Amino acid sequence: MTTANEHQRPKLVDGMGRTIVNLRISVTDRCNFRCTYCMPADNVEFMDRKELLSFEEIARIVEIVSSLGINRLRLTGGEPTMRKDLPVLVAMLSKIKGIDDIAMTTNAFFLKDQARALKEAGLQRLNVSLDSLDPEKFRHVNRRDCLQQVLEGLRTAAETGFKSIKINAVAIRNFSETEIMGLIEMGRSEGFEIRFIEFMPLDSDEVWEKNKVLFGHEIVAIVKRKYDLVPVNESLDIGPASEYQFADGKGKIGIITAVSNPFCDHCNRIRMTADGKLRTCLFSTAEYDLKDMVRSGAADAEIAATIQYAVQLKEPGHKINLDDFERPRRAMHAIGG
Ligand code: GTP
Ligand code: 5AD
Ligand code: SF4
Repeated sequence: MTTANEHQRPKLVDGMGRTIVNLRISVTDRCNFRCTYCMPADNVEFMDRKELLSFEEIARIVEIVSSLGINRLRLTGGEPTMRKDLPVLVAMLSKIKGIDDIAMTTNAFFLKDQARALKEAGLQRLNVSLDSLDPEKFRHVNRRDCLQQVLEGLRTAAETGFKSIKINAVAIRNFSETEIMGLIEMGRSEGFEIRFIEFMPLDSDEVWEKNKVLFGHEIVAIVKRKYDLVPVNESLDIGPASEYQFADGKGKIGIITAVSNPFCDHCNRIRMTADGKLRTCLFSTAEYDLKDMVRSGAADAEIAATIQYAVQLKEPGHKINLDDFERPRRAMHAIGG
């Protein structure tokens, strides 16, 4: 439904006619996990702390993008809860005019201690990464023995009363097949939407191959052995996931077919890295240095013009399935998932 208010807002439209409403802000490239599909096992080189945008610098850029038409924010990492005083940033962002939705993607490890403060500061929605409910398989894929802490973090978050909690599981062939139904049952009983994300070529180890991706249609087939699923046609919440409702009415699941059926045609997002680089696609090979503009005294109008210019040139889509696919130079933890 369109409100009268939305009619008055400016729009940030790219060269393909896609309206950009969503900024994903990475607040740190650090992480306490070393998930195999994302980071190397060791010897990670992290950004120098002075390269990180301060909270004030982030808030200034958000004010500018909000004036251009962006109304949704997502905090990502690395692991965003590793950034000191994150609730302070959330409180600053939630006061910015035009921002209607603030969400975060997290591994949940620190939620036991932080969920309440984040909710009180204005964080509305959480997406939690969880690939397996088996402690051994968790340790294998996330390279940390932390399943219990993650489940405790999730429990605290559920008690805290966020508007929604979704679970993200990366779908990897010969790994995820056996994990799907356990996650599904947890989602049904706890009220979480479980989403499976096709493994993308963003792993630092560069072991990705197409035959390591467990495809969305295969996941749906596994779930359908036990439950009837009804596709949700008109998602009000346009995002990367195709959603299916359980026919018995007990919740829904999401499938992010980033490889087999990319959602690029409907993409409504841009990203900013922790060191203040604007990226118009997860797979961008070019970046725009907003930090440099902010620190060298650029006016709001100049920064806004750079953002509009970048958005105009937003990539039509990723090229994972094409011969000229080029991996982004940054790994996932330094882009923001
Ligand atoms: P909501 O729909 O608002 O809940 O957010 P979301 O689904 O975008 O957030 P989340 O961070 O949980 O994204 C889920 C996963 O989808 C990410 O971790 C990525 O793996 C993938 N994803 C998110 N954005 C993009 C994108 O722009 N391109 C591609 N190919 N994948 C993306
Ligand atoms: N492919 C797909 N999803 C990934 N994520 C991280 N790396 C990959 C990848 N290579 C997702 C995780 C997490 C978010 C930060 O990004 O599931 O939810
Ligand atoms: Fe950390 Fe998330 Fe990457 Fe795992 S996927 S290593 S939790 S940033």
